[in-house]
Amino acid sequence: MTMIAPSLLAADFSAMGEQLRRVQQAEAVHIDIMDGNFVPNLSMGPQMVEALRPQSSQIFDVHLMLLHPLPYVPVFRKAGADWLTFHVECADDPERVLRAIEESGAKPGMALKPATPAEALYPYGERLHCVTVMTVEPGFGGQKLMEAPLEKIRQLKERFPHLVVEVDGGVNEETAPLVRQAGADLLVAGTAVFRAERPAEAMARLRGE
Ligand code: DX5
Ligand code: ZN
Repeated sequence: MTMIAPSLLAADFSAMGEQLRRVQQAEAVHIDIMDGNFVPNLSMGPQMVEALRPQSSQIFDVHLMLLHPLPYVPVFRKAGADWLTFHVECADDPERVLRAIEESGAKPGMALKPATPAEALYPYGERLHCVTVMTVEPGFGGQKLMEAPLEKIRQLKERFPHLVVEVDGGVNEETAPLVRQAGADLLVAGTAVFRAERPAEAMARLRGE
């Protein structure tokens, strides 16, 4: 079954605890962390993760869009991250970042910008729990899904069948069938879930139920 991880980026920031309760049926909660360097936007920091942790027993899937993720690995783990994903295009040595995540006890993930080939993850795939295939340029919610990156799902699943492959960016009711067909295990969806009147029903539709 396809898992859904609503992205808090599209939630109402004035009432995050409440927003979390609107998506109780989700398998995971996707938390986007931006530094104004790796991406041209700022979002939230470890304090938000820490404040939300006691409010939910769901998986916290933390997506680090940071130029220098290395020093922040223990910080976000301590704040309550279950899965920690960083970008292979970051400025730190991916091997060192991955080792830091392994040592932290979080489940490691790596993300690919739309133009980065799947091969960039081949040296690490065996050690990863999840991979995030970005279908928009990271930085903002509410963008249109690019189809070309979906091809990477098949490549990654063929080589590393154990991986949880996430698709992040522009997933909505219209694009979800395509993304499921491409083999994604988990759909990240911000706008499509939080802007819906009934998030539970929106998530069911994204799953194809
Ligand atoms: C973009 C983020 C996404 C974003 C998805 O940089 O990584 O998680 O919030 O938002 P939607 O679903 O609105 O495209
Ligand atoms: Zn994300």
